[in-house]
Amino acid sequence: MSSHEIPEADEQLPEKRETAEGAVEVSEDPFADPGMPPHEHRKQDIDERAARRSERTVALLFTSSMLATIAFIAAYVAIPVDKYIYVFPIGHISALNFTLGLTLGVALFGIGAGAVHWARTLMSDVEIADERHPIEASPEVKAKVMADFRAGAAESGFGRRKLARNTLFGALALVPLSGLVLLGGLGPMPGTKLRHTKWAKGKLLMNQNTMQPLRPEDIVVGSLTFAMPEGMEEDQHDFQTEIAKAALMLVRLQPEDIKDKHELDWSHDGIVAFSKICTHVGCPINLYEQQTHHVLCPCHQSTFDLADGGRVIFGPAGHALPQLHITVNDEGYLEAMGDFPEPVGPAFWERG
Ligand code: FES
Repeated sequence: MSSHEIPEADEQLPEKRETAEGAVEVSEDPFADPGMPPHEHRKQDIDERAARRSERTVALLFTSSMLATIAFIAAYVAIPVDKYIYVFPIGHISALNFTLGLTLGVALFGIGAGAVHWARTLMSDVEIADERHPIEASPEVKAKVMADFRAGAAESGFGRRKLARNTLFGALALVPLSGLVLLGGLGPMPGTKLRHTKWAKGKLLMNQNTMQPLRPEDIVVGSLTFAMPEGMEEDQHDFQTEIAKAALMLVRLQPEDIKDKHELDWSHDGIVAFSKICTHVGCPINLYEQQTHHVLCPCHQSTFDLADGGRVIFGPAGHALPQLHITVNDEGYLEAMGDFPEPVGPAFWERG
């Protein structure tokens, strides 16, 4: 017979299997249930001293988890954020991050390893065959399941192995504290810091790529131009924070396309300037559709109409993009008439 041909039923070879005693049994039924292999007792099943040793190992692992959680909290409080240490082969890294990662890792490992060791050495490992049965269990089966569950609970030693059980409760109770402590790392509330940006009356609009002041003729129809206030240098310590708030996008529209009268007053010759920070959760907006004057936030697809006051026309953003009032100075450069009239970015609750 070739390897592609399926054998006829009567061509099936009878199944051979070895018994526990080593004799070879030949079954006439090739699909006969081979049955369970003989159960082998573990050392802990027959030696109470070995079982107690295993319980102490489990307790040691859970206790190491508790100690690691306490060390995590102590490290969070005691180690300064600007302290660096040398760790081979990584190099210089933050001592705080290294210690937090290490202690949290040990805390989680202690719980996991303790649970696995408990299951492998102390909980019952007797094999149980569950015969197939109709999907809806009969009352007798349900009663049996409950009886098996209670027997399993008793065999797991949860009631009897008090040391392992109590240390497990302790480790599980302590480990969430690590997450609570990390909430402190979110830093202080922004308070009123979102209310003000570096834009002010008379500040020139600088091209964010060339760092040159922008003239109206630099803003071409059909594309977005990104700008930032004059006087911002990349080596300033707060540059990243301030550019994240002051980021501006400019677009040239036909003045007659601008639907909002207020927007028209704040524009110059069809050039409108809006905050580039999405009012949903603060992603930078960078997709522009010339025909519709819509800009799209790539994060969650909020869409804003730049010809209608930056109004939200789609997506989860809660309010329109703030507009910057611009004009042209005597030298022909675009400049701001003041700061944004409202906080930029997401509508967090503390903005008031
Ligand atoms: S951040 Fe822009 S849509 Fe979510």
